[in-house]
Amino acid sequence: MCGIVGHLGPQNSVDVVIEGLKRLEYRGYDSAGVSFISSDNELVVYKKKGEIVNLITELEGKDVKARSSIGHTRWATHGGVNDENAHPHAEPERGISMVHNGIIENAGEIREDLTSRGHKFKSETDSECFLRLVIFHLDEGLHIKDAIIASFKRIQGHSAFVILYKETDEIYAIKNGAPLVCGINEINSEVFVSSDPYALAGMANKIYFPENQVLCHLSPSNQHLLNFYELDGEKSTRYMSKKQNLDHDPASKGDYDHYMLKEIFEQPELIRSLTQFYFSGEGRASLEAALDLPRANIHITACGTAFYAGIVIKDFIEKENRISCKLEVASEFRYRNPVLSKDELALFISQSGETADTLAAQQLCKDYGVKTLSIVNTEGSTLYRDCDANLLIRAGVEIGVASTKAFTQQALTGYLFSQVIKEGGFTDSVKNALSAKLALLAERIDNLLAREEEIREIAKSIYQYNGFFFTGRGAYFPIALEGALKLKEIAYVHAEGYAAGELKHGPIALIDDQKVNVALVGTELFEKTVSNIQEIKARDGVIVSIGPRDNKELKEISDYYFGVELEGLGDLAPLCLNVVNQLLSYHIAKLLGTDIDKPRNLAKSVTVE
Ligand code: AGP
Repeated sequence: MCGIVGHLGPQNSVDVVIEGLKRLEYRGYDSAGVSFISSDNELVVYKKKGEIVNLITELEGKDVKARSSIGHTRWATHGGVNDENAHPHAEPERGISMVHNGIIENAGEIREDLTSRGHKFKSETDSECFLRLVIFHLDEGLHIKDAIIASFKRIQGHSAFVILYKETDEIYAIKNGAPLVCGINEINSEVFVSSDPYALAGMANKIYFPENQVLCHLSPSNQHLLNFYELDGEKSTRYMSKKQNLDHDPASKGDYDHYMLKEIFEQPELIRSLTQFYFSGEGRASLEAALDLPRANIHITACGTAFYAGIVIKDFIEKENRISCKLEVASEFRYRNPVLSKDELALFISQSGETADTLAAQQLCKDYGVKTLSIVNTEGSTLYRDCDANLLIRAGVEIGVASTKAFTQQALTGYLFSQVIKEGGFTDSVKNALSAKLALLAERIDNLLAREEEIREIAKSIYQYNGFFFTGRGAYFPIALEGALKLKEIAYVHAEGYAAGELKHGPIALIDDQKVNVALVGTELFEKTVSNIQEIKARDGVIVSIGPRDNKELKEISDYYFGVELEGLGDLAPLCLNVVNQLLSYHIAKLLGTDIDKPRNLAKSVTVE
């Protein structure tokens, strides 16, 4: 997913945009660029392949004082990674530049049509088609606003566009199915636009979430700095807005080496605040709204880590409420013509709320007339706005591409939902019992975080092995899957998550003295899990056991053993062991020297298929 930032105001716009882009670099980072109206009223563009530091180096020593600017970090979809394909795409002599997030599905026919009319393309990208279309309509004599609307009506696919226009020194923005937010700071008379509210944290004190096909007009001459229009030119009221503190700056890593480590350590505090939000705070109404939805069966759909959280939630709901939950990755669900009925509930789990496959699956369920519920982190995201009800996970901004705190909060939000279904609503006893349970989990995670050095020592002993299995039974199986994903995505090490009882049906052929088995061991099915460990040990596999504390049997059969106090945690015990996996993967990756917060090939939110 690409990052977009635009700014108008008395501060140096380029500095503001670069700061915003730095915050979004985790979302897509194979090139970056900025365009602005210079002090001698020229439209200027700088853009560079590679990380944003290359662009910052390019800008050093240049006159970049400006009152209006737009910028972009790119995660390539169409066209290779090079300077020409980086955004902004611009026609400086026409005084227009543009950045784009998403895909223009009919770019081929548009490019062919405009080329036949004499328009010259400079890049291989689909995005440039939009710029050329706007110029085509300007040449027809349309006003910039009408030229943008006419161009927007022509394109197909999920996209967000931000345009800087020198003649009026204004910024326009419009979206369909891709994230877009605007912001204002009335104190400084500034106006912003971005693909992510996080880019505006600490800068804008009011955030706006325009709906699809609403044209956003950012102008210093506007009385309100910011206006919204329908495609017919009429003023629009199709947007949400909310205030945000200017003194809140989540961009800081604090004393941590990586955002991922900071976010791992944030988990206990976030867990404690979740029950507060749902039982005493503004979250209560959303949980009640969720309870009102039909739920003869529940379809749970998500991607990646969110999908693994879905397995955990499925176990909670089926065990406590005997409601059948069907689980499927969104990229399969959306093309399988699923069997759905209106008395069922479709549950979507997503940190960003912008994952293309998850959004498409949600739209499919809406088309079938099935009620949709999200468990989502990003308020105002597309998923949040499209679902009938939403359960926010309150994880705060998650910068590390590898999801950690969001997984825990997703699972726990699903747990609260399951428990309130079981109890038939809110009662003081439910609230007190759940608050105590989550407080105990938070305490146990605090305790194991304090033992980080022990985990780092285990990582030092195993980081050079060339293959890893994460295994678990029952509620520990999804934790094994999630643990393997963490290691893959931040350490670039091959790892597979497996049901412990399944390894002997083939994969055990891979076991030798170069393979590590990270065994997740709960008190349930303990003996069965231990016998699976013995099967691997008998074939010289290296055994790392993560399980109940002070367990003599595990100590004896394991090469490395990390014991955790699981007493009293019940169904939440697997979420405790998951944090050990997070730290284990983090320290293996750190020893291997990979880019932990921005792993190669990945983007934080995959807004394309
Ligand atoms: C998690 O570590 C990954 N970055 C990835 O699997 C992610 O969970 C997946 O892309 C879904 O993202 P979402 O939660 O924003 O929908």
